[in-house]
Amino acid sequence: MAKRAPATDCAQALHLVDPVSGGIIPPLQPSTTFARGADYQLLSGRVYTRDEGPTVEPAERLLAHLEGGAGAMLFASGMASATAVFRGLCRPGDHVVAQDVMYFGLRAWLKRMAAEWQVDVDLVDAARTDELRRVVRRGKTRLVWIETPANPTWDIVDIAAAADIAHGAGALLCVDSTVPTPVHTRPIEHGADLVMHAATKYLNGHSDVLAGALVTARADDAWQKLHQYRHDDGACLGAFEAWLLLRGMRTLFPRVERQSATALELARRLERLPGVRVLYPGLPSHPGHEVACRQMQRGFGGMLAIGLAGGGAAALTAAGKMEVFLRATSLGGVESLVEHRETAEGADTISPPDLLRLSIGIEDAEDLWQDLSQALHPA
Ligand SMILES: Cc1ncc(COP(=O)(O)O)c(C=O)c1O
Repeated sequence: MAKRAPATDCAQALHLVDPVSGGIIPPLQPSTTFARGADYQLLSGRVYTRDEGPTVEPAERLLAHLEGGAGAMLFASGMASATAVFRGLCRPGDHVVAQDVMYFGLRAWLKRMAAEWQVDVDLVDAARTDELRRVVRRGKTRLVWIETPANPTWDIVDIAAAADIAHGAGALLCVDSTVPTPVHTRPIEHGADLVMHAATKYLNGHSDVLAGALVTARADDAWQKLHQYRHDDGACLGAFEAWLLLRGMRTLFPRVERQSATALELARRLERLPGVRVLYPGLPSHPGHEVACRQMQRGFGGMLAIGLAGGGAAALTAAGKMEVFLRATSLGGVESLVEHRETAEGADTISPPDLLRLSIGIEDAEDLWQDLSQALHPA
């Protein structure tokens, strides 16, 4: 078949036609087990749904294709896919380097895991390549974990530089690519070994599925271990969730492109408001802008943050005045959300108190702007 653009492959779920019905929509097959013939041979090659399933596989194939990977695995949540990487690949005594600015739930788990599993974890400012280089230990570091753009300040990490540093130390690089999605960044092209997604967010896009995913650059020993880990741990995605996820993924490109275009326009306008500081990698004022221009295509993502001169109280007041943005946690859905991360993250937060995180949806951009302007006035 001729090579097609990723947006075409995505919209058609790789030109999928159900061979049984001729339907052009991938079917939902909820069976947990698969039959054998009278000769006791498997009819479909599948045994049991924990490792394989006709509804999960098309979504895994599409994601592997979009990321340019050798394979993909779906999990029951983003956290399940992320923790699988650490638990499946690290042993007591290993050293792990991770970003200090990252999804706070994973950072909190990593700290607990480090103590309980005797894995030595260094949290660093991975946006500074020299910091990463300083902290890796040749022959000892097993894994380097980065997120880019990273929650909640949208720090940008140079993936190619991080891959060089990780590989130079004999470690693997895993990138949490939840926010850019393969629309904007394909980490494997920049040298990443593994890509992780909270598929709950943009890949599904409709705030109605909890799912996670891993994509591998190579079908190697590490990937085998991760397969074994998912099999043993059992945090697999159910058929219905996988069906909904693939339905959502088919509109990934138009959703994300629109969300990014609106986010950039809002970021530019917000930057002109007095008393408002804007964190968005698409703005030249963002410290990661230059690297973002190198490793992101078609835009800079739908997530931005604003800091208000009036501090935490002003941020909470502004969030309270919003009428179009919904006050809720999470990101990547078609509806715009506002969140005061310090409140959401609690005691161990490193989120600045004045910061509001905005997840831009697909609503009319002028409605979103009106809402922000009235809520921030006077900032
Ligand atoms: C960047 C990022 N990674 C991972 C996760 C965890 O995903 P889940 O909530 O599906 O477990 C989240 C959730 O907010 C996230 O934003």
